[in-house]
Amino acid sequence: MEEKIIDEQKQGEALVLEANKKNKRKLFIESYGCQMNFSDSEVVASILATEGFNTTDKLEEADLVLVNTCSIRDKAEQTVRKRLEKYNAVKTKHNPRMKVGVLGCMAERLKEQFLEEEKIVDMVVGPDAYKDLPNLLEEVEAGRDAVNVILSRDETYGDIAPVRLQSNGVSAFVTITRGCDNMCTFCVVPFTRGRERSRDPQSIIEEIDDLVAKGFKEVTLLGQNVDSFLWYGGGLKKDFEKASEIQKATATNFAMLMDMVATKYPKLRLRFTTSNPQDMTLDVIEIMAKHRNICNYIHLPIQSGSNRILKEMNRQHTREEYFALIDNIKRLIPDCAISQDIIVGFPTETEEDHKDTLSLMEYVKYEYGFMFAYSERPGTMAGRKMDDDVPEDVKKRRLTEIQTLQREHSKIRHDEFLGKTCEVLIEKASKKSDLQWSGRNSQNVVVVFPKEDYTVGEFVNVKITDCTSGTLIGEAIEYSDNN
Ligand code: 5AD
Ligand code: SF4
Repeated sequence: MEEKIIDEQKQGEALVLEANKKNKRKLFIESYGCQMNFSDSEVVASILATEGFNTTDKLEEADLVLVNTCSIRDKAEQTVRKRLEKYNAVKTKHNPRMKVGVLGCMAERLKEQFLEEEKIVDMVVGPDAYKDLPNLLEEVEAGRDAVNVILSRDETYGDIAPVRLQSNGVSAFVTITRGCDNMCTFCVVPFTRGRERSRDPQSIIEEIDDLVAKGFKEVTLLGQNVDSFLWYGGGLKKDFEKASEIQKATATNFAMLMDMVATKYPKLRLRFTTSNPQDMTLDVIEIMAKHRNICNYIHLPIQSGSNRILKEMNRQHTREEYFALIDNIKRLIPDCAISQDIIVGFPTETEEDHKDTLSLMEYVKYEYGFMFAYSERPGTMAGRKMDDDVPEDVKKRRLTEIQTLQREHSKIRHDEFLGKTCEVLIEKASKKSDLQWSGRNSQNVVVVFPKEDYTVGEFVNVKITDCTSGTLIGEAIEYSDNN
């Protein structure tokens, strides 16, 4: 009996030793691209924490460097290539044992080719393969290159509690769908992130429960295409038609999910991103209007105002249908802010098409927007079938034109807040002054105001007195009743 206890003690000591040894390992992880990548990196940090990795922000001391990459435009890929050069320099100078892995969309797009093109890379891991990281690391430690870029039909990482990296403790992202089935002809995402699949609402609720218990005040439901959320017991969205009658009858769509979350947590602020006009249904807008805690803000990419270009892009809606959607939003939620993504210089885009985009912007008067020059992506339909025929200087000029117009519209929209009172959730100290708080109102506009006795994580009513191009400036008048 005594012997057994000693044995157990020894075993225990051995385990602790092993854990200590493992805990000494340091992970430097950085992310580029969309919010999904930043959220995925939190899943990766969680998976590697069980392998004894602690995160570090010092590249020089890292045993493992991971870069979560984006392929959306050529420039995003060039940024990552530059970072790899930097890792190489640090490895050579300070830390020859450092291992380097690439994750995310570039990993998926380039696969094994990455190992040949970039000698510094030891490991290539696609967006659905992060659970395989412990095995891949063993390979790397044994001196072999490791690659897993298999895309999955059902991986949603629903069972992994993300390690919140760089969190302000106030707002967090919760992934609800992965992948995209829309096949816009310019877009690399369906190739790098695979088919659409949704996460079990139960596991979504559990993650939010945990966040609420930790004091978080705002959750953004995240997906490449949130409106297409559909849970019917698992499986791809495109296979829903083949589901049983019971599965169909008990399925949860995006509006139902939002209703469920907003009802369960009436004090929690809810946001979502990204919406796709062709998938956004009236019931989503109605649910937004029904719940005070769902923010009045929709990011609603349009890409182009020309029906001909929308068709070439394989967007499944017209300019007129988009206007109808905007009208419905404004009818049901009059103070709803809307933002855009627009691409200029898509192949064959004429001056006339470009003017259609400008006039569409005039109609909507977006709160703000993200505007890009078309970048041809290898493997996409447009990349394969269309000439990138709009000259760079024309793209540049059109981009400047829409950016200038957007600035004017942002100003108009911000001016509308002057003299009004907005509920703001305090997130952090303002970048410009440590005496000011910074937070966002329901419409997702940054609001800055003197700190007084208020503190991070509180909801306050702020009277807006002034604005700059991107920020509202005001004074807190009282606590909001949402605290
Ligand atoms: N070129 C330029 N912009 C692109 N986007 C997606 N693909 C491309 C591309 N090939 C933009 C779209 C999308 C946003 C995330 O990036 O506007 O909504
Ligand atoms: Fe970039 Fe798109 Fe991949 Fe996000 S999903 S990282 S935006 S390519």
